[in-house]
Amino acid sequence: MSKLWGGRFTKETNKLVEEYTASIQYDKELAEEDIEGSLAHVQMLSECGVISSADMLEIKRGLNVVLENIQSGKFEYDVSHEDIHMNIEKALIDEIGPVGGKLHTGRSRNDQVATDMHMYLVKKVNLFITHIEAVQQAIVKQAEEHVETVLPGYTHLQRAQPVSFAHHMLAYFWMFERDKERFQDSLKRTNMLPLGAGALAGTTFPIDRHRTAELLGFEDVYPNSMDAVSDRDFILEFLSNASMLMMHMSRLSEEMVIWSSQEFQFIELDDSFCTGSSIMPQKKNPDVPELLRAKTGRVYGNLFSLLTVLKGLPLAYNKDMQEDKEGMFDTAKTLDGALKLLAPMIATMTVKTENMKQAVNEDYSNATDIADYLVNKGMTFRESHEMIGKIVLYSIQHQKYLLDLTLQEYKTFTPLFEEDVFDILKPANVMNARKSYGGTSPEQIKVQLELAYHHLKVK
Ligand code: ARG
Repeated sequence: MSKLWGGRFTKETNKLVEEYTASIQYDKELAEEDIEGSLAHVQMLSECGVISSADMLEIKRGLNVVLENIQSGKFEYDVSHEDIHMNIEKALIDEIGPVGGKLHTGRSRNDQVATDMHMYLVKKVNLFITHIEAVQQAIVKQAEEHVETVLPGYTHLQRAQPVSFAHHMLAYFWMFERDKERFQDSLKRTNMLPLGAGALAGTTFPIDRHRTAELLGFEDVYPNSMDAVSDRDFILEFLSNASMLMMHMSRLSEEMVIWSSQEFQFIELDDSFCTGSSIMPQKKNPDVPELLRAKTGRVYGNLFSLLTVLKGLPLAYNKDMQEDKEGMFDTAKTLDGALKLLAPMIATMTVKTENMKQAVNEDYSNATDIADYLVNKGMTFRESHEMIGKIVLYSIQHQKYLLDLTLQEYKTFTPLFEEDVFDILKPANVMNARKSYGGTSPEQIKVQLELAYHHLKVK
């Protein structure tokens, strides 16, 4: 099969080399972007008088035929044409004859592939922003229903202080909000056009890169042709933002796994989001959050592999850079699956409010509040902390919780205790008392919800 670059060669390419150097096995995913880019490129070339408008129309016709063949699954990808760019160009020439050979005027695969990848990521990032919002909507919905639902809050996975379930869920809302902002912010760097950089130094043809940018909807053009074809930082930024998003989703998944265990029983995942065991009939396994947690690893891996690919490369293009693709596609696929499942999984889970409430009644997570109580009666916080520590120890030794002690018992520690201490100790009151901005009291959660609506632009 004759190569588009065959002129300089006297021998056929070794078959193993062909396989090894090709990227068509995976970069066919860029077919639509590649054709879209080519359509804009020839349009610009004809407007600039580099090719005639008759040639431009013929090339566009041919490209559209190729596009249809690709979309209908008729297109036959050929590894001997290495990558998506040359597969399409070859098919174009087969379709319309030698005039198809004018398409590559004033460009190189180096600026072409970079352009395709920019276009691909702009589309994906916009899609992921919408998916993140769907997860946030599901969180807000659960939060609205559980402002007053009290459950243990943990530090070190030890009971710390009671919090509202809405507050706990909204913590994730804000993590996802920052993830969304990072993606949004990355768009201004991804929305840059490399095309027209040529192989590395620009082109001798009187092209208009700003016109191509306009035709493709790019906001700006790379001002340096070498930078345009050399860097992949826009992909790294995507991989890094994706890693953080996966990390957040993974932490939430981990909590869903813990919460749905028999030991916690704080939530139950919907049957339609769980799987069974081939041997143990009783099992209902949280496979989805488990896999999401695990798949976070491959996204981190993709970030690190590309960082490593790039770190020692001299300017400008090097074939090493072909290794930017699989990790990017894999990350996009992984994110897509995770985001699409997380939203309905949150929306359909059952929150077992009674179990949560029972849990806070059976711990010492109200201890800080009696410490604060004594501070309000004039003791220093350190002194009070020490005394409450002793009271907790006393209670553990007598197999009681803080609400089970009598006033008399309290008074043996200090006469500052009065009857009102028991009200302070009730878990719901412990939660309600945290009225500082951003705290877990229902009134603060309502402030938080308003802010969340504002960010989602709903209500
Ligand atoms: N398939 C190549 C890649 O993804 C396209 C650019 C090839 N350029 C070159 N000079 N060999 O990087």
